[in-house]
Amino acid sequence: MGLNCALDGPSGAGKSTIAKTVARRLGYVYVDTGAMYRAIGLYVTRAGADTKEKEAVVPLLKDISVELEYSDGEQRVLLNGEDVSGEIRTPEISMAASNVSAIPEVRQFLLELQRSIAKKNNIIMDGRDIGTVILPNADVKVFLTASAEERARRRCDELKAKGRDVSFEKILADINQRDYNDTHRETAPLKKAEGAVEIDSTNMSIEEVADRIEELIDEAIHRDFKVIPAWRRATYSILRFIVSIPFFLIFRIKYENTENMPKCGSVIIAGNHQTWFDPILIAIKVRYISSYMAKAELFNHPILGLAIRMVHGFPTRRSSNDVSSLSRAEAFIRKGYNLTIFPEGTRSKDGKIGKAKSGVALIASRCGVPVYPVGISFKRPLRFRSTITLKFGKPLDPEELKITSMSKSDLREAGERIMSKIAELVDQ
Ligand code: DC
Repeated sequence: MGLNCALDGPSGAGKSTIAKTVARRLGYVYVDTGAMYRAIGLYVTRAGADTKEKEAVVPLLKDISVELEYSDGEQRVLLNGEDVSGEIRTPEISMAASNVSAIPEVRQFLLELQRSIAKKNNIIMDGRDIGTVILPNADVKVFLTASAEERARRRCDELKAKGRDVSFEKILADINQRDYNDTHRETAPLKKAEGAVEIDSTNMSIEEVADRIEELIDEAIHRDFKVIPAWRRATYSILRFIVSIPFFLIFRIKYENTENMPKCGSVIIAGNHQTWFDPILIAIKVRYISSYMAKAELFNHPILGLAIRMVHGFPTRRSSNDVSSLSRAEAFIRKGYNLTIFPEGTRSKDGKIGKAKSGVALIASRCGVPVYPVGISFKRPLRFRSTITLKFGKPLDPEELKITSMSKSDLREAGERIMSKIAELVDQ
């Protein structure tokens, strides 16, 4: 389950613009529930039925399928497979959407769809009843308002920019009418949800509102960070001690700059990958429990797979953008575990430092946690009593990673920044 942010408020408060901005910045999925009601409003209007008449609308629902699709960060609304993204934005369909949204069967029809999207992704969902009905347990709830005049002015500008001939008075009247409909209907009327933070955007810019919501999401992520129970920490200490014995007997292991080691949980430790036991070399020195991202193939072996899982290892498919593995990593960090990760994704055959995959930067910035670099060096070939040096570097804060857009290039660059810090700690 991802992080859920519910964004409710009256028509024209700027919800969709804000939600899109926040979603783009954080790499979340933006779910525009208004578009779903609009698609139904469009279908009913096209069918020539009265959008206010429950008896006329409900029988049509069985013929309607609504989907939201995302390509290149843009949302497309599909009504029975047809792209209606443009057509649903007219004033006529706005009113039709408001009308059909008052019908309980229509709301029920969309409820499951909206919940199922929220279950699978980190989302920001905008609407009227998201915090009250659809996602009452959302991690963050925002109620976005603005004066009716300001909202009418914004809608007017928006439609004019699209070349439509509109009158301010008509739009203001429409907004007042829709406000009335949305707040006075019996089922799921528009109201501030319990625990929602109200933001009045009348005199705020889009960026300012988006910053504030990002702050709230950030707080929610950290609020969820848990402390690992004492018995588990004690078991881990004993296990570390036992496992360290053979390694100290076989090799000379030197730890340098240990003052830079993590002094708490919920951080990322990132190293260069040289041997299968790199994670163990780190774990026997850092006393905070870590989870590990390991390649999926290792889990094909039943005993090895079980052993890795027992020390909080989880699989990642290296070739693909493995969303479930990223969610697992985030979940561990929120529970108080560190995450040990080797950003190159594969062991170096010759000791040279490779390129970083984007996962490490993505997790760091989504969780807002620092990355602690570690450089692992030794002379090849590794023999009995060879010296292995692990050098710890100063942590990189999420701000230092300079991830602003979550775009592939931003994440790749941040990954490279982490990798170059690691490279500075390796004796080449
Ligand atoms: O956000 P919007 O203007 O695109 O929404 C269109 C209509 O749909 C709006 O009048 C209220 C209704 N709606 C709703 O009742 N519940 C939602 N979650 C979203 C929209």
